[in-house]
Amino acid sequence: MTTFARKQSLLDPGMDLTLRPMRYPLFYERFRDAIKNTWTVEEVDLHSDLADLNKLTPAERHLVNRLVAFFATGDTIVANNLVLNLYEHVNAPEARLYLSRQLFEEAVHVQFYLTLLDTYLPDENERIEAFAAVENIPSIRNKAEFCFKWIDSIEHLNRLHSKEDRRAFLLNLICFAACIEGLFFYGAFAYVYFLRSRGLLNGLASGTNWVFRDESMHMAFAFDVVDTVRREEPDLFDDELHDQVRQMLREAVDAETQFAEDLLVQGVAGLSLADMRSYLEHVADRRLAALGLAPEFNARNPFAFMELQDVQELSNFFERRVSAYQVAVTGTVSFDEDF
Ligand SMILES: [Fe+2]
Ligand SMILES: [Fe+2]
Repeated sequence: MTTFARKQSLLDPGMDLTLRPMRYPLFYERFRDAIKNTWTVEEVDLHSDLADLNKLTPAERHLVNRLVAFFATGDTIVANNLVLNLYEHVNAPEARLYLSRQLFEEAVHVQFYLTLLDTYLPDENERIEAFAAVENIPSIRNKAEFCFKWIDSIEHLNRLHSKEDRRAFLLNLICFAACIEGLFFYGAFAYVYFLRSRGLLNGLASGTNWVFRDESMHMAFAFDVVDTVRREEPDLFDDELHDQVRQMLREAVDAETQFAEDLLVQGVAGLSLADMRSYLEHVADRRLAALGLAPEFNARNPFAFMELQDVQELSNFFERRVSAYQVAVTGTVSFDEDF
């Protein structure tokens, strides 16, 4: 039976309905910050990319086709895990407020990538093929299988009673924040910003700016949840859990490297597989640091165009909001530069 009574810790099963006194004001602040980043797909002009698509070399066109095929299902997987797993087990109404907002954002991302594929792939057969990539393209299927392995790992859990249940939940949460939003998507964004650095596909890059900010915040929230659980139940974070997290990140880097091999198979001038691997390792180390763990790879970021990303986005955000028409922005918005 569902209990409404207040719990001791965030992962105690039940349905806490009490917002005052608020146990986790930080989660409510995350919800308010997320609303400041409201955008719609209609604001993004993708048609300006059509002329660029005709300019691409065959190798670049292959990269773009693979990339959009990944985007066709990536956010749908995240949205499903969010509502089927995370929402159920994070037991605080202010945290569920944030997760509701995140679910909306994932839906906007799904709409954005649907619109992207419809615009970039006017041929119906090509379009259908791209949407089926998760079944037909091995490097994309491999990433989806990695996601589903961690979705399946907690599918049987209706209540997080034991410490083992809670560790399984934490692994799912960390997988989606650090490996999927924090690595697979960041890898994808790197291709977009590489193309932008060559003056290509500015429409895609401008939509990606919005998605990038959303994903940074999704990760930040998930890591706040991890920090909260660590404070409340430190004994969950034993060596075995930490080893599992490291192993998971190594697997994610390998899966994303396999995807990079596929994207870059024809050789894209200015973007080497070695640099992409180094970037992914560098990002994985940052995710480990956010989880309080030592680096695994000690890799450097070879992509100056990604280092600038957060700073540029923050200024663009305020410039854009000068002419804002949907959401009034008051106060400050802070983005953690670690992302
Ligand atoms: Fe997303
Ligand atoms: Fe997300």
